[in-house]
Amino acid sequence: MAFPPHFMEELKARVSLADLIGRRTKLTKKGREYSGLCPFHNEKTPSFTVNEEKGFYHCFGCGANGDLIEFVKQTEGVAFPEAVERLAALAGLEMPVERPEEKARQQRTATLHDAMELAGKWFSSQLASQAGTGARGYLSRRQVSDAAVANFRLGFAPNSRTALKEALIARGVTEATLIEGGLIIKPDDGRESYDRFRDRLMFPITDRRGRVIAFGGRALGDAPAKYLNSPETPLFHKGHVLYNLALARQKTFDSGMIIVAEGYMDVIALSEAGFTQSVAPLGTAITEDQLQILWKMAAEPILCLDGDTAGWRAALRASERALPLLRPGHSLRFALLPAGLDPDDLIRKEGAGAMRAILDKALPLSEILWRKETEGRSVDTPERKAALEKALYGLCDEMRDPAVQGYYRNFFKEKLWQAFRKKQGATERTLNGRSDRNRFGRFANRSGDSHKMPSATLRKASVPDGARREELILLTAVNHPEILENHFDTLASLHLASPQLDRIRRAIIDIATVESSLDYSGMAHHLAKRNLSEQVKRLQGPTTKSLDWFVDPAAANEDALNAWLHIVDRHKLEALQKDLEAAERQLGENVTSENLDRLKMAKKALEEASGNEANLDGFGLASGRNKIV
Ligand code: UTP
Ligand code: MN
Repeated sequence: MAFPPHFMEELKARVSLADLIGRRTKLTKKGREYSGLCPFHNEKTPSFTVNEEKGFYHCFGCGANGDLIEFVKQTEGVAFPEAVERLAALAGLEMPVERPEEKARQQRTATLHDAMELAGKWFSSQLASQAGTGARGYLSRRQVSDAAVANFRLGFAPNSRTALKEALIARGVTEATLIEGGLIIKPDDGRESYDRFRDRLMFPITDRRGRVIAFGGRALGDAPAKYLNSPETPLFHKGHVLYNLALARQKTFDSGMIIVAEGYMDVIALSEAGFTQSVAPLGTAITEDQLQILWKMAAEPILCLDGDTAGWRAALRASERALPLLRPGHSLRFALLPAGLDPDDLIRKEGAGAMRAILDKALPLSEILWRKETEGRSVDTPERKAALEKALYGLCDEMRDPAVQGYYRNFFKEKLWQAFRKKQGATERTLNGRSDRNRFGRFANRSGDSHKMPSATLRKASVPDGARREELILLTAVNHPEILENHFDTLASLHLASPQLDRIRRAIIDIATVESSLDYSGMAHHLAKRNLSEQVKRLQGPTTKSLDWFVDPAAANEDALNAWLHIVDRHKLEALQKDLEAAERQLGENVTSENLDRLKMAKKALEEASGNEANLDGFGLASGRNKIV
């Protein structure tokens, strides 16, 4: 039996070839393709590739090749119809039954496709005509280029009750087809049918192959609805479709990244700014089906949301929907725009670079969930702490994948541990790490000014010498990795005399290079992975609590940073001092202009550095200390 094309297409859309094959052989993504050991012959080095986009696999070793169905036939030893049946079961699709009605339905959808295509062409011609003058003016005011008009096949529906209806009937489309396609509306009371879209800028919505299946229309005058979309039709199921998917596919596969914006105009602006891998749902919150489509194309789609409360709510809705569907490697990221701007506004105002910067800073889902539960919540009693923990673990319960769930539990556990463990007086940061002075009530208004200590006291008092200083530099970085966010280079360029200590320094640099937003427990975790925990523990030494209290993780990052910069400066100064002494010695032994230059340079470097010591005013106050030692 021949399966209807729409069924086969749906099947291929729902089952990922890489996933299917990945059950039999381990695949690694390499650029646009996956590669792995061939499941059809014995081999030691991978010569088997899978192209998800084309839905095709090929082995350069044994020549095996084919598509989804071929793969099932080959690996499960079944014939075509059974392979289809197995795939349908996997995809949760019902097998089609061939009935005369089904045949008729297929013919009808073919006719519907034609009608939608014709309507799209007609709207385009209207935009180009005299009637479209106003709409063209609108587009140019919004800086939509002619290229974008052509690319997105924008059109115009004139302000007339029957212009489209008449034009399409003249081209042989029946009234019934126009009604079925949602292009005209037939009132129940028997009055004449009329055009659905009037005086609107038209955005054709296509399926993944680029065939027009529906329209979105933006009001140009003051119609009550800014956007009007086609109703559900045999071709168009809102929740399964993403605007611009057909055009976005190629770049998505090439870049491994897909951007989900909120509206048509955002997608167009993003594309014009070079982010052609942009899509949008159709005016509704993102659906489960849409998430699945996105995950077939990229591991971590970036949701681009307005930076206001509505955008934040949309982020929360999307994350709730995503929780049960998370799988190892598959997640979402969230790019939050400045309040009041959508991607279209931002790109017009500040350019593609500003957009890129925001995409680069997109937050992982885990961070959004943490913020969702902690924002505005006070956790000053055991019961409130327990409530927060319960809420976070409740989110984990939603996750169906056990591995993802397990890692999320650990993630929240560590975050909670850190947040609760910090003595409240020791930090003015809120749970979610943003500065908010009011959150912690009585601890919030500690002002440094009245307790200022003269900085010279500290300079003399608390700078240890030699090896201990090197240890403290590292310990502070280990216990307060946050300081590396802005002072990474300082540690990276530092020279430590002790080879063991320098090894730890390099490990810290390595870790900070790959991991962003490191905190104490994150750093500890990564050091442990490198078997460095013991060595670091030895650095801790007995004196930590007195003179060197700032290295303690409980000290405020701000104090730790000040102290750290101070010892680092002292360390560098001493190194320069040694350089100078060496240069003097060399010049004494051998008076050459080279050695003289060297001495001069060493002197200059030392002078510059000594004018540059860290400012320690107010030191210790952020940690609730009004005495330095
Ligand atoms: P927005 O209101 O954010 O509009 O709606 P926009 O995309 O920024 O459009 P411009 O810039 O004002 O022209 C976002 C999306 O929500 C849907 C549309 O899909 C729109 O692109 N929407 C919005 C509707 O379906 N109906 C509406 O009345 C409004
Ligand atoms: Mn907009």
